[in-house]
Amino acid sequence: MWTLIFLLLSLYAIADGSGVTSTDFLRLPSDTSSRFFRHDDNDYPGTRWAVLIAGSNEYWNYRHQADVCHAYQLLKKGGLKEENIIVFMYDDIAFNEENPRPGIIINNPNGQNVYKGVPKDYIGENVTVENFFAVILGNKSALTGGSGKVVNSGPDDHIFIYYSDHGGPGVLGMPNNPYLYANDLIEVLKRKHASGTYKSLLFYLEACESGSIFEGLLPEGLNIYATTASNKEESSWGTYCPGEYPSPPPEYETCLGDLYSVGWMEDSDIHNLQRETLRQQYELVKRRTANNNSAYGSHVMQYGDIRLSKENLFLYMGTNPENDNNTYFDEISPRECSKAVNQRDADLLHFWDKYRKAPEGSTRKVVAQKELLDAMSHRIHIDDSVRFIGKLLFGMEKASQVLNVVRPAGQPLVDDWDCLKTMVRTFETYCGSLSQYGMKHMRSLANICNAGIDRGQMTEASAQASVFIPKPEQYFSNRSLLDLFYEAGEEPVIPVVRKR
Ligand SMILES: *[C@@H]1O[C@H](CO)[C@@H](O)[C@H](O)[C@H]1NC(C)=O
Ligand SMILES: *[C@@H]1O[C@H](CO)[C@@H](O)[C@H](O)[C@H]1NC(C)=O
Ligand SMILES: *[C@@H]1O[C@H](CO)[C@@H](O)[C@H](O)[C@H]1NC(C)=O
Ligand SMILES: *[C@@H]1O[C@H](CO)[C@@H](O)[C@H](O)[C@H]1NC(C)=O
Ligand SMILES: *[C@@H]1O[C@H](CO)[C@@H](O)[C@H](O)[C@H]1NC(C)=O
Repeated sequence: MWTLIFLLLSLYAIADGSGVTSTDFLRLPSDTSSRFFRHDDNDYPGTRWAVLIAGSNEYWNYRHQADVCHAYQLLKKGGLKEENIIVFMYDDIAFNEENPRPGIIINNPNGQNVYKGVPKDYIGENVTVENFFAVILGNKSALTGGSGKVVNSGPDDHIFIYYSDHGGPGVLGMPNNPYLYANDLIEVLKRKHASGTYKSLLFYLEACESGSIFEGLLPEGLNIYATTASNKEESSWGTYCPGEYPSPPPEYETCLGDLYSVGWMEDSDIHNLQRETLRQQYELVKRRTANNNSAYGSHVMQYGDIRLSKENLFLYMGTNPENDNNTYFDEISPRECSKAVNQRDADLLHFWDKYRKAPEGSTRKVVAQKELLDAMSHRIHIDDSVRFIGKLLFGMEKASQVLNVVRPAGQPLVDDWDCLKTMVRTFETYCGSLSQYGMKHMRSLANICNAGIDRGQMTEASAQASVFIPKPEQYFSNRSLLDLFYEAGEEPVIPVVRKR
């Protein structure tokens, strides 16, 4: 087994010219490691609106759509009306052939079906950035497809937006191209504010580097309070994953939820939200998501009009009358530190678990093998291409420093967002789609802009990379990585390179 680990590591290290500086072993499959208050809407003049969006598709991203379905159930129980909850999800999970319980989605190992009754407002091809923005702005004529539901709000209303997916510095994933860029989102929020059609807005955001979506970008004074699963330079974490404690039922080969997301939802599920403030929830979720400051956690952040955090969750989420006697108080002891899975590695975990469980010699095993191999090769190809371009543009010595520099607190990722978009397009034209994993390189592409590189230089460098960097299919062409897994027997280990 150890031979395998070192072999994998060295494969990764060879691919990663700079060497592996921070490595985690994701050991698989498992090393097991009241008050009496009546619900009353009389003194609430406005309407509560919610926009829930899962930005991913594919079964290995089960958890994002599970999060969003759970949020829907929670808001319904809180008393929000169906017409005021707008759901975006690709909807390829419940009836996916990989789903061991067809038609059912759970967000917790012991959880109920959260898929039941979830409206299919924007699914499949209709989950797009354009539609998401049109819905927030209440602009029906800007929609393409979908149910036509939009946030048709007025000045007394409260709006809650919850997003769960992969992301990267300055960018959020979408199941259909293009990605969602932070500056465009902020522009939409400013326009919504200028239209005078809400009293205050709560934004909960789960994604890698999610702090970068608001840091230095979301001004005060828009009556928006936002919290994010991670700061601007770290991963966020999936949870209830195979091999973790608590783990999903054994037939699941995927993570069921995300750490920050289940943190706020499992809190809102059980408390009287007329008596819990946004601030209290923020503190609780921050503690839970930090995961006892272990390597398997992130820093929950807050942005915008922090003063709004003294408001009650009830304004946005209503409250479930069954919880009337369950007043939140600060008694939550830190949960036992459990493992969690880096958002970016959840696909590997899924493929590996699938591979491991598939019968010897089955087609399923061969397919899982190819999926794992493809995912690894794609990663190495993208990492190498970015590094190569950096070296061409800035020289061997300075490249990694320029690409990886993180701007000081309070500064946005990039000054010229159009430049960033151009760099992304140029890179993808020559080197292939960044895709979910590759979004982590957004900071490098932003830094290329910040260093004043122009489009022509980037085109030149990307074209060179496309010639010199092997294609993903060339990496393990002969003795495949997975042949090694075959030989590894019982308890293999996938090396997870977390961050440079
Ligand atoms: C709504 O969207 C349409 C189409 O994109 C656009 O022409 C129009 O200006 C938008 N309306 C408002 C009020 O923003
Ligand atoms: C997208 O919306 C259009 C219009 O409502 C609808 O005809 C189409 O089926 C939708 N796509 C999916 C995948 O549901
Ligand atoms: C809350 O407590 C009161 C008083 O004990 C009781 O009458 C009421 O049924 C309880 N409500 C719920 C939802 O449990
Ligand atoms: C949290 O971490 C500390 C030190 O790393 C450890 O002593 C403690 O047992 C941990 N607590 C839990 C609940 O895991
Ligand atoms: C590697 O693969 C190629 C084609 O897939 C084959 O022609 C070649 O003989 C293989 N080399 C070895 C050492 O197996």
